[in-house]
Amino acid sequence: MDRLQGWIGLIISLMVYLTDPGFGYAIIEGPQNLTVVVGSVARFNCTASDGWKILIWLFNGNPKLSVLSSGGTIETDYRYTQKGYNQSDNRFTSELMIHNVQLKDSGQIRCSLQNNDDNAYAFLSVQINGFLNIKDTNFIVKKNQTIEIVCEAFGWSPAPRISWMKNNHLLDHSMYVSNYSQISNGLYNEESILTLTPLTTSTVTCLATIDALSKPQSATITVTVYEPSPIGCANEDWRIRTIILAVVLSVVLFLLLILIIILIICCCKRRKESNYHNELRKISGRKEKDRDLETVSHSGKENYGYSAEQMTRDHTSFPVKQDFYNSEQDLNVNSPSEVSNNGLQTGEFPSRTTVYPVNPHKIRNVTLI
Ligand SMILES: *[C@@H]1O[C@H](CO)[C@@H](O)[C@H](O)[C@H]1NC(C)=O
Ligand SMILES: *[C@@H]1O[C@H](CO)[C@@H](O)[C@H](O)[C@H]1NC(C)=O
Ligand SMILES: *[C@@H]1O[C@H](CO)[C@@H](O)[C@H](O)[C@H]1NC(C)=O
Repeated sequence: MDRLQGWIGLIISLMVYLTDPGFGYAIIEGPQNLTVVVGSVARFNCTASDGWKILIWLFNGNPKLSVLSSGGTIETDYRYTQKGYNQSDNRFTSELMIHNVQLKDSGQIRCSLQNNDDNAYAFLSVQINGFLNIKDTNFIVKKNQTIEIVCEAFGWSPAPRISWMKNNHLLDHSMYVSNYSQISNGLYNEESILTLTPLTTSTVTCLATIDALSKPQSATITVTVYEPSPIGCANEDWRIRTIILAVVLSVVLFLLLILIIILIICCCKRRKESNYHNELRKISGRKEKDRDLETVSHSGKENYGYSAEQMTRDHTSFPVKQDFYNSEQDLNVNSPSEVSNNGLQTGEFPSRTTVYPVNPHKIRNVTLI
């Protein structure tokens, strides 16, 4: 049956060939199936025998580029170009180039000489190699400990075939499980989980393969294996102790810093205050001197505070060294208790410190006593 059909086919082909208006020329070799990665250049060859007039390249039935035997080319898509080769026996080869191929360029590529010889076609398949990665986890394991290593592939078309290698030797399929899912417009994500129980430190490689890639895309990690020491627990304790020590030390340092800052602030404040008191003392001293030199000419309305305690201690130098004196302070000197708290040195003999709002003439009297 098959043989009969074959003969019939041959006879029909022969009849077509003989009745062909373009008798004498044909496509000697048509384009070949091609799979490429997105963004690359797709190349197809079509070789015609001597006598051809026009060679047309079509994508999914649409003419994209025509080559005339006279030498010119007619391009209808800027991404489609061709290069002509004049071969022996007056054969002609047109090499079609499709630049920057995209997923949508996947389809049928046909070469036609505008006769009835229409069998010169092939398929272009555009694929996408996406991102490949081994999930970052702890790859430092105890000897003979079982771990899972996860390899992730994002944005591939089609979903890649994933395989694993340990120290450059392919691992058995039973050691890993792979699952893929379609995300959008023909793109796939895939995840593969390898279960491994390493006895020595090893390099582990995840490989992703698609036809368009001449060699698989890969991701490699190193699994470091350590011998659990007999005092493994002590080791753990030591680590915890170190961490605690570090935390305590940093807290102590922090508190110390705060203490230093507080001390500095207090110091500055006290210095400012003592400056202020010194200033007051100078002013009061000067005024006292002036007052001593001048003949007393006060209205009598003014009150002056003095320290009885100070007086008993420094009565030889009084009133020049009087501790507190300022007419501006009149308002503060209204009540004895207030003055003793605000203006005077009360630290040493607080019980004996008394301040009275007095008439300057009276001070003089007291001094004389
Ligand atoms: C070319 O690709 C098509 C579609 O993918 C397929 O059916 C055909 O068998 C392929 N031809 C060859 C020679 O590989
Ligand atoms: C097409 O043919 C030319 C000339 O023979 C050759 O150099 C080129 O590599 C071929 N291209 C393909 C895609 O086969
Ligand atoms: C690894 O552990 C298994 C049990 O978990 C034990 O049977 C085996 O002997 C161990 N192998 C080595 C090399 O320690």
